[in-house]
Amino acid sequence: MTTLPELDEAARVIRHHLPARPSVGVVLGSGLGGWADELADLVKLPYADIPGMPRPAVAGHAGMLCAGRVGDVQVACLQGRAHLYEGHALAKAVFGVRVLARLGCRAVLLTNAAGGIHHSFAAGDLMLITDHLNLMGVNPLVGPNDEALGKRFPDMTYAHDPRLLELARAAANDAGVTLREGVYAALLGPTYETPAEIRMLRTLGADAVGMSTVPEIIALRHMGVPAAAISCITNLAAGLTQRELDHAEVEETARASRARFSALLSAWVRRAGEGAAAGSAS
Ligand code: HPA
Repeated sequence: MTTLPELDEAARVIRHHLPARPSVGVVLGSGLGGWADELADLVKLPYADIPGMPRPAVAGHAGMLCAGRVGDVQVACLQGRAHLYEGHALAKAVFGVRVLARLGCRAVLLTNAAGGIHHSFAAGDLMLITDHLNLMGVNPLVGPNDEALGKRFPDMTYAHDPRLLELARAAANDAGVTLREGVYAALLGPTYETPAEIRMLRTLGADAVGMSTVPEIIALRHMGVPAAAISCITNLAAGLTQRELDHAEVEETARASRARFSALLSAWVRRAGEGAAAGSAS
């Protein structure tokens, strides 16, 4: 279990390096990390320098805390995440987003690479996650509950914050980017799915599938921090084409989608930042 003092120690070390208090947190998924390098007044801190922070081992995940500005909005960004399939303890896998919350972020915007299941999706599409299926077989809140972080039985009706979803739609409009919507199924990985599993997931109502994000959404919901997520559909899911799936292809498609993804994410951060400032004024 992660305790509040552990999170606050990490936040204290990070704050020491930041010029300003961040209002919006961002998590960048596989192949999507380049966005952080475009932040104004960029400051980078390796995860290795942050006490308690797990280090991601997957190619395409840098393991840097990046802080900077998008317009007037101060952002703290996790460039690379720790996945459960790497063997991290559950509490560790969500340590980074909990630290973003303790840094003062009033909204956290998550991103990931995902396989497309919905029949109308194509590689390169961007999908707003409107709800999820937690099929990881685990939950980051298992174990003793720290009431200082949140309550024992958090509601999940609005786990994907309705206001942030609206802001994402508006941001897609701002950026002139088509934004699909759908349900994200999270599996433990690290294998990709079998074609039979993809047929099962489609029957269950999933539009996309991946190996991340849901634990972070749950941890942020636990702490009462609004969060929402966008998937970059990097491939059609297993069995929907004849081709085998490959991580290099996932990263390549994510990179090829970079211009649209970056424009959308920057517009979303601006809108969420305005909202966070308005929220803090009231
Ligand atoms: N399945 C699971 N995770 C993924 C996929 C996929 O097809 N693509 C990118 N991440």
